[in-house]
Amino acid sequence: MRQSDRSGVFAPPTPAFVIDVPILDDFVSRFQQALDKHWPNSILSYSFKTNSLPWLVSFMRDRGVWAEVVSDTEYELALALGYAPDRIVYNGPVKSRALLRYALQGDSIVNLDAKREVTWTAEFAREHPEKELAVGLRVNWDLESLCPGESTTGDEASRFGFNADNGELDQVISELTSAGVRVAGLHMHRNSRSQSLGVYRAAASVAADLTISRELDLEWIDIGGGFFGSKEASPTFDDYVAVVRETLGHAVDPQRTRLIVEPGGSLIAVPVEFHASVVDVKDVGPHTFVVTDASRTNIDPLFRRQRRFETRLETKATESRPKQIISGFTCMEDDRLTRLTDAPALEPGDRIVFYKVGGYTMCYQSQFIEYLPAVYVRQGETLTQVRHKWGVNEYLQGSRWYENGELMGAAALGSPATTRKTPAGRTANSPG
Ligand SMILES: Cc1ncc(COP(=O)(O)O)c(C=O)c1O
Repeated sequence: MRQSDRSGVFAPPTPAFVIDVPILDDFVSRFQQALDKHWPNSILSYSFKTNSLPWLVSFMRDRGVWAEVVSDTEYELALALGYAPDRIVYNGPVKSRALLRYALQGDSIVNLDAKREVTWTAEFAREHPEKELAVGLRVNWDLESLCPGESTTGDEASRFGFNADNGELDQVISELTSAGVRVAGLHMHRNSRSQSLGVYRAAASVAADLTISRELDLEWIDIGGGFFGSKEASPTFDDYVAVVRETLGHAVDPQRTRLIVEPGGSLIAVPVEFHASVVDVKDVGPHTFVVTDASRTNIDPLFRRQRRFETRLETKATESRPKQIISGFTCMEDDRLTRLTDAPALEPGDRIVFYKVGGYTMCYQSQFIEYLPAVYVRQGETLTQVRHKWGVNEYLQGSRWYENGELMGAAALGSPATTRKTPAGRTANSPG
């Protein structure tokens, strides 16, 4: 599809996300190169939760990037989109027993996060003495004490993983070992306020200490995600992997122990734009409201963003306005996407492009008033639609409702989801 906007750049009907393929390709390649340089025996996995658009998942798969999933549903999505179990890193605090067993059987990289998962793994090992089982453990470690000011939880600790200081981690190691399960990995992901190298140095140093003090023979150290992703600014992917290698080098043999990284936002935030059109311009006293066909729910779904968006305006305006409040289509007063200062005076039909909106946006889309916007991918001058705008049909799918006293819905709509069996033996999306 070729569709030119006023500036001559090929652009889609609005509202829509646009993924720039060469930029995405460049981000993935740069991360892979950093790993190849500092830790060739490594796994680049992509954090599905950040943005699991099916096209994107298939793009990652075709580039050899593994799937990093944190729920049964994400695991099933990885399978549905062609990932083999042994190319999946299975994390997350709430795994089901059935899918955990499936993942262990299929040689996924499994990082346990809850005591019931330990019990289920030990039980599986006793049932299958013929199978060599190896799992990783998510470590609950104290980021704040090593990097003051970095914790996102304030006084309250992180709730993820097994605490290394109160004996819980050791208890779990001994429960697994006595069931014949090898503790083969440590998972170190922590959320932090900054994306500084110090956080990764701290994670790697905790992993090194545990490896040495617990005499672990590790097949993998998973350093998690949370990296900063920019082509121009630092830290670069190369800086991160170099620091991790430098910190861990004395504790593990990098030929034997694989480094796993799970980037999400650092790969997908920058390559994605959101295109909106101006629908109306209203002056209210000294204020100018520019109403668009987009919403803050599209690009700032948690309404938390502090920084302004980088934008491009496509307009023929010759005059400027001191301030314009760019607003959304919803009925919420705070659906205000950004404020423009001393910018061209926008008019209906003008286009606003918001940059760097690929992380934690599409995956958090609301169903408030409108459903999911369309998504296009751009390769040079070619735009390909990879998701159409969701409307009433998609909204009704999987639901049931009454018509003339009769229960209509999922089955009547012929949704394949009503019968599809998942690997765990559950029936996906079945009503009732
Ligand atoms: C376990 C785990 N891995 C990877 C990520 C991806 O993080 P990011 O998108 O910041 O790279 C997250 C995000 O919170 C996570 O919880």
